Amino acid sequence: MAIRQVRTIGDEILTKACKPVKEMTPRTRELIEDMFDTMYEANGVGLAAPQVGILKQIVVIDVEDGEQYVLINPEIVETSGSQTGVEGCLSVPGKCGQVTRPDHVVVRALNEEMEPVEITGDGLLARCICHECDHLKGSLYVDLVEGELMDQDAEAAEDEGI
Ligand code: NI
Repeated sequence: MAIRQVRTIGDEILTKACKPVKEMTPRTRELIEDMFDTMYEANGVGLAAPQVGILKQIVVIDVEDGEQYVLINPEIVETSGSQTGVEGCLSVPGKCGQVTRPDHVVVRALNEEMEPVEITGDGLLARCICHECDHLKGSLYVDLVEGELMDQDAEAAEDEGI
């Protein structure tokens, strides 16, 4: 188990576009394991590789629906509906804000074995997929916040830290 340092807003690496993964290597497997460890340690529900300083298109997600998702080179191919809710990010500690996202998302990606997968997400999973895919493009949710960025403590009950 290895916890990696989570990069925070202001770090240039969070603004850069990530490169696709071409092949699975022991090093990349270790990165994915560490990303899960780091996410769980921080009580997050999703984490993207640039958040630990690696500019590769890799996302891990666990919204406590019984699945641990690994999305490599993800591409959102379908969105519908709309949900507005409070969102946070491990790279923006102590803050949260209201963001509108699709309520239904279909994403195509490769799994840890580099096999093509298609995942359908609704509600929190849809929100999380969108949030993490934005990280891979160098975007943070703070640019989508409606109104003011809030202190997380004030909204702790509603927060869905991703
Ligand atoms: Ni985030």
